[in-house]
Amino acid sequence: MYTLDLLLTRRSVVAKNLSEPGPSDVELEVILQAGIRVPDHGKLGPWRIQVLKKAGQAALGEVYARLFAADHPEAEPRLIEVERQRPQRAPVLLAVTARIDPLHPKIPELEQRMSGGALCQNILIAAHASGYAAQWLTEWPAFHPGVKQALGHDAEADIIGLIYIGTPTEPPSERNRPTLDQVVSEWTGPQG
Ligand SMILES: Cc1cc2nc3c(=O)[nH]c(=O)nc-3n(C[C@H](O)[C@H](O)[C@H](O)COP(=O)(O)O)c2cc1C
Repeated sequence: MYTLDLLLTRRSVVAKNLSEPGPSDVELEVILQAGIRVPDHGKLGPWRIQVLKKAGQAALGEVYARLFAADHPEAEPRLIEVERQRPQRAPVLLAVTARIDPLHPKIPELEQRMSGGALCQNILIAAHASGYAAQWLTEWPAFHPGVKQALGHDAEADIIGLIYIGTPTEPPSERNRPTLDQVVSEWTGPQG
């Protein structure tokens, strides 16, 4: 029952509303174990997770600030500071990457990608089940080659999630969601 309650009530909490405490190392290990226990056709394990705590987040903030300033030479210092703080919004940041083999003889690219999505979702659920909240973001850094390089990945890897985990400073309001009848229908055979 608890799992269903959790799934039926889970909400992302925006990264700026995630504060201390974050998960302990022991709690984080459980969250990550749950994360990698995902369907993975062909056992390719195409995903990697990097854990960024204070030191890593500060270093990534310098990377964001440098890249943003280079891409926006007229940006005010205030905006560059926002970028420096971007990866430092929550106690724990997970950088999830996937290295897809588009030419794999058996496992379609889409299936490899979806396994990474399942991993990110498992992390969100496990974080909530551990008493924390989380948000799965990409934002511009996930698509910037300089960020990928700074994190030590080659051009073939994709950043599929920058997941922020912490304790909510305020409860999130509910979000408009599709109703079941907008999404679900019974199929009984080909029409006509
Ligand atoms: C792959 C992926 C990337 C996302 N990137 C962003 C983003 O860059 N910025 C953003 O505001 N929300 C982004 N979201 C949406 C949030 O994670 C989240 O879905 C939204 O805040 C509502 O969350 P909830 O339906 O879990 O409550 C992304 C979602 C996914 C699945």
